[in-house]
Amino acid sequence: MINKAFVQKHFDRSVSQYDKGAGLHRFIADKLLAMASLNGHKKNILEIGCGTGYLTSMICSGWNPENLTAVDISNNMIESTKERCLFHDNIEFIRKDGERLSFEDGRKFDLVVSSSTFQWFNDIYSSFKHYHSMIEDGGEFLFSMFVEDTFCELFQAFEKACVINKRPAMKPGQKLFGVGKVREFLRAAGFKEKDSFFEKHVVTFSSFDDLREKIKKMGFSNSNEDIGYISKRVAFDLKKIYAAEFCNDKKEIQATYSVFYYIGKK
Ligand SMILES: C[S@@+](CC[C@H](N)C(=O)[O-])C[C@H]1O[C@@H](n2cnc3c(N)ncnc32)[C@H](O)[C@@H]1O
Repeated sequence: MINKAFVQKHFDRSVSQYDKGAGLHRFIADKLLAMASLNGHKKNILEIGCGTGYLTSMICSGWNPENLTAVDISNNMIESTKERCLFHDNIEFIRKDGERLSFEDGRKFDLVVSSSTFQWFNDIYSSFKHYHSMIEDGGEFLFSMFVEDTFCELFQAFEKACVINKRPAMKPGQKLFGVGKVREFLRAAGFKEKDSFFEKHVVTFSSFDDLREKIKKMGFSNSNEDIGYISKRVAFDLKKIYAAEFCNDKKEIQATYSVFYYIGKK
């Protein structure tokens, strides 16, 4: 179970460093935008997890919507988006858990969009169902999210370090769904798929410490309720195993990010 207070704290802290390390996130957001066609149905847009506002500003400049509602759980992220989108006066900012959104005025949207955020949700099926109810008939749902196999090297090295030290094998991060499961949730929530694809990105780091520092700066810290205790011995072995087993010819450390891209219609 993901603790939302931890998620908020991690992203509040990472805001000043986020853009420096967000190369992959930008690449993903650009790909996501390229999936959607400008078909004149994007007057009212809801964005979940706006972060520092890269996608928000691209949408406002490129699609010129009448209104965009930008939601993020982190206050600092919202402030950062406000700064980046200073010249767009059609954005409403809401600091809230995007998983439990409700609007008293019962407003509906032509498009719900989100990039690299749903992996922080506890119950994505319920969220998908809820977004379906908030989208106008004929409206669209466009998103990317990290799925199963993201940081598979870290999970494998950690498991081995736990076995060596006779510790119960726990995951050093939240459980990520596979693509099949996410598609099943989307169908059950009522969406009709227009297009979707899955991509793996292998990113390299100079050392294990470099990897750890960089993912922490991107807000990717363990936000599980049952975070558990990682002994110094396990941490030491984790680093050793990772560096030995998951490096390339140049001795760079590798980390896999698995990304699912989707566009569907109500
Ligand atoms: C990895 S960042 C992605 C930000 C941006 N969409 C991008 O592509 O750069 C994830 C963002 O989702 C936000 N977030 C995480 N869980 C959330 C939730 N339950 N509701 C709303 N925002 C959330 C975080 O605060 C963070 O800004």
